[in-house]
Amino acid sequence: MTDLAIAANGLRKSYGDKVVLDGVDLAVPEGTIFSLLGPNGAGKTTAVKILSTLISPDSASGRLRVGGHDLATDPQAVRAGIGVTGQFSAVDGLITGEENMLLMADLHHLSKREGRQVTAELLERFDLTEAAKKPASTYSGGMKRRLDIAMTLVGNPRIIFLDEPTTGLDPRSRHNMWRIIRELVTGGVTVFLTTQYLEEADELADRIAVLNDGKIAAQGTAEELKRIVPGGHVRLRFTDPAAYQSAASALREAARDDESLALQIPSDGSQRELRSILDRLDSAGIEADELTVHTPDLDDVFFALTGGADIPSQPSQPSQPSRPNQPNQPKEAVR
Ligand SMILES: Nc1ncnc2c1ncn2[C@@H]1O[C@H](COP(=O)(O)OP(=O)(O)OP(=O)(O)O)[C@@H](O)[C@H]1O
Ligand SMILES: [Mg+2]
Repeated sequence: MTDLAIAANGLRKSYGDKVVLDGVDLAVPEGTIFSLLGPNGAGKTTAVKILSTLISPDSASGRLRVGGHDLATDPQAVRAGIGVTGQFSAVDGLITGEENMLLMADLHHLSKREGRQVTAELLERFDLTEAAKKPASTYSGGMKRRLDIAMTLVGNPRIIFLDEPTTGLDPRSRHNMWRIIRELVTGGVTVFLTTQYLEEADELADRIAVLNDGKIAAQGTAEELKRIVPGGHVRLRFTDPAAYQSAASALREAARDDESLALQIPSDGSQRELRSILDRLDSAGIEADELTVHTPDLDDVFFALTGGADIPSQPSQPSQPSRPNQPNQPKEAVR
């Protein structure tokens, strides 16, 4: 299909006995942001390296096309249309930011004049003009990352691969990077992004794929993925033990947390479900001291898909989700 910037069928890669990618299918429409998520070692960087021609896939892979060109038969054409910002910086610390940029311009065979012009524009756009003449080794992590991406854009690529572009950035720098990525996409660029920050995928990506055990465990929009996992609930907290007891009898399906005098009712967080819960409390003459709504977020999806935890077959199963052996603590005291 011509309107796909990236199309992979049965992408495979093994190192010796170790299967890293075990038949991965990807379809990224032009001008969209696609985010590949997965735990450390899942194979995200491997996928980026293959799709950007830096390493070869296994010969058993199916058809792989990037920018309309076949990776196997026309890697040069693929390379001409893409830009890659690796997980680890490509910035040379010994030379200045400007010199790093000019070097890229040379690699792209721009004329001296064009090279200077593009360099000046990009340094300005990435807020690096002031630091341009300083050795890149003196840059902060965020500045190096910005320079990295600026270097990627020198050849005006139509498809860019960003491997964890915001790892290690502070929240302001991260938001700036998001703005830059959105601007690129507004200009028609396709972005293939890997990230450890689920919030980032949620914020930016049109489609998200979760890589686990060499396969795509789930794929869809952030909203679609969130529907896969249960965990939406309303939490009611009481200070008066009697009120808590009455509420527990009025809302029998609620999970009880006797210690905190809290009830947790499975809910999609919709206005209708909230109203129904409040109506039932009202008719029993009970008032909760605190009400919080929890809707599943991408963290829940990530843990469910990559933590080895069972995914219930019923998307809205009214049980308490338990998340054993998970690396991160739940964001709330009661789950
Ligand atoms: N050149 C190599 N030789 C052998 N094994 C490799 C090689 N490159 C990667 N691997 C292995 O492939 C697996 C996937 O690595 P990859 O770097 O793609 O993971 P990742 O998803 O990018 O992880 P991270 O989130 O830590 O960046 C890992 O188990 C890694 O050890
Ligand atoms: Mg990686």
